Amino acid sequence: MLGRLNHVAIAVRDARSAAKIYGAAFGAEISDAVPLPEHGVVTVFATLPNTKIEFIEPFGEASPIAKFVERNPDGGIHHLCYEVPDIVAARDQLIGEGARVIGDATPKVGAHGKPVLFFHPKDFSGALVEIEQT
Ligand code: CO
Repeated sequence: MLGRLNHVAIAVRDARSAAKIYGAAFGAEISDAVPLPEHGVVTVFATLPNTKIEFIEPFGEASPIAKFVERNPDGGIHHLCYEVPDIVAARDQLIGEGARVIGDATPKVGAHGKPVLFFHPKDFSGALVEIEQT
């Protein structure tokens, strides 16, 4: 059920300027900044040949990444996103294995317009895991 690594997310104070170095130094394709109010972040993607880097900055009053950015003012790796063919089946299987879903376990529409869910880092070796339906 586990598919490709869709992206690695880096949380920063300013997603646009963080992404700039990938465009300038690496020549990667950089997306526009997209606010996702439902997730409390603004995202900018750098597209690599085999995956993407998602730069996220806090958006709104109750951003779920506000504390992370406060603790890591220079930025830091925030989560890994894996593709799955069926998000409900993947969710149920992971929960069945004891993984804890974050929030109410109902998939939300993520940065690519596809359903996503997040799982607790304590159940994944300290790394917050996002799954995205392909
Ligand atoms: Co993500």
